[in-house]
Amino acid sequence: MKVQAILDNAPRHATAAPAVSLPARVRIRLWDLPLRLFHWLLVLAVAVALITGQLGGAWMALHGKAGLSIIGLVVFRLVWGVIGSAHARFLSFLPTPSRLKAYLTGRWRGVGHNPLGALSVIALLGLLAAQAGTGLFSNDDIAFSGPLFALVDEALASRLTGLHKQFANVLWGLLALHVAAIAFYAWFKRDNLVKPMVMGWKEVERQKAPSADHQNASGRKGGAIAFVVALAVAVAVVYGVSGAALPGSPAAAAEPATATQGQPGW
Ligand code: HEM
Repeated sequence: MKVQAILDNAPRHATAAPAVSLPARVRIRLWDLPLRLFHWLLVLAVAVALITGQLGGAWMALHGKAGLSIIGLVVFRLVWGVIGSAHARFLSFLPTPSRLKAYLTGRWRGVGHNPLGALSVIALLGLLAAQAGTGLFSNDDIAFSGPLFALVDEALASRLTGLHKQFANVLWGLLALHVAAIAFYAWFKRDNLVKPMVMGWKEVERQKAPSADHQNASGRKGGAIAFVVALAVAVAVVYGVSGAALPGSPAAAAEPATATQGQPGW
């Protein structure tokens, strides 16, 4: 009887195999390849545009090409933000007031862009769109004009040119902030954001990692078809704004030239 009582009170798992200890950190897929390519091509295109814009003169032809590339990249990103993989989607990192509040009070637990970073991402994309968009109608009063310059009157073209120059200053500021934020995360928070933007994956604490189901589901988003669609939209928009279809451009040589304000510079 005494022995039975001891057996009844014994912990039920006493004879079970010892629990396997799981690693504290796990590797998750974060940024897909198209998004990483987008980012580093954007860095290249923006660097070329900023430098050639400063150099002026004969460099303006290249400046125009960099500007068109930026438009293509931003359009690609906008489409990818809707049909791309989970962390690339705007809805996944939209900085809503509740997400911002959670982040500022230390309660945010996501793995993609944090809500404050998301604000800067949206500001950067918006500014780049405005910057490259105004460039299409600008001219440098010497020999270079944007491909759609002929479509607006001189007063509007000169206002857009002024804006194009002012936006460039804001862009320098935002880029400085962008790189400073990344350096801040690396040094003070010991969080290397650059590695995931290069490799695609990130190591996070096990509790922070999305579930395996969630990861598999997100891996299925943003596949080859989505990529082709985003690329096709970007190419179509670049073709449309490049002026190639405007009367007087080489691509529309069959039609009579009617442009009145100089030729597109690219
Ligand atoms: C011309 C310069 C740059 C531009 C225009 C730019 C633009 C952007 C944009 C638009 C994003 C958001 C990515 C997305 O679409 O979701 C982003 C993210 C990021 N960029 Fe840049 N970037 C520039 C330079 C750099 C440089 C030099 C670095 C490295 C030091 C860098 C590292 C990163 C990282 C790590 C992220 C992800 C941040 C996060 O984890 O939330 N960028 N950048």
